[in-house]
Amino acid sequence: MKKMTDWIQRWKDGETGWHKDTPNDKLVKFIDCLQLERAATVLVPLCGKSQDMVYLLEQGYKVIGVELSEVAVTAFFQENAMPYTVQEANNFTVYNARNIRIFCGDFFNLDSGHLGMTSALYDRGALIALPEDLRVKYAQHLYDIIPSGCRILLLTLNYPQSQISGPPFAVDEAEVKSLFEWFECQQLECFNDIKNEPKYLHAGVDFIERATYCLHKEE
Ligand SMILES: C[S@@+](CC[C@H](N)C(=O)[O-])C[C@H]1O[C@@H](n2cnc3c(N)ncnc32)[C@H](O)[C@@H]1O
Repeated sequence: MKKMTDWIQRWKDGETGWHKDTPNDKLVKFIDCLQLERAATVLVPLCGKSQDMVYLLEQGYKVIGVELSEVAVTAFFQENAMPYTVQEANNFTVYNARNIRIFCGDFFNLDSGHLGMTSALYDRGALIALPEDLRVKYAQHLYDIIPSGCRILLLTLNYPQSQISGPPFAVDEAEVKSLFEWFECQQLECFNDIKNEPKYLHAGVDFIERATYCLHKEE
């Protein structure tokens, strides 16, 4: 199980194998399910230094990120050559740049006041980064802080958890439906990607499913 301090250390040590230098293809393929209006604000929880935030900005949207690691947040702005300002606020160091604000601190301290006009959320590597007890807390906290009408694009992995340990943790469709029972939930895609996952293939894992969901917190 990953403690918060472990994530901070991983960033310091450069052990960030999940990070990709290009936008996630499922974000590009399924962004329309978020039904974003022009200049809408998208929340990216546990954002790291994800290039998916750059993709959202390039599409004309505003982004609110939340990330524990200061190393990740400063790397994001520096690597993307975005001038930024920094201020301290309750529980967070807040990094502001054009159309993007990243709250550096613990996601579980975020409240609805931080989210402004957020109308959608993109989760890649957030829910599945958390062990089971924190996944329950994460889904509950999201429900509490996001506005009604908010849509979520959620990317998950599922594999036999008994065959290899996380993170990323295995989360199957039944768990998604149970965690987000107060949301309308539609699975958009699910396929076995074991041939592209050498770590899991070599560990003898039977399958690794990649799934994409669209969730809707109804009005
Ligand atoms: C697997 S990474 C995914 C990062 C990003 N979503 C991406 O797709 O590249 C999980 C991230 O969550 C951050 N994190 C873990 N627990 C957190 C918490 N309680 N609050 C804020 N960020 C957290 C970690 O520092 C790490 O950057």
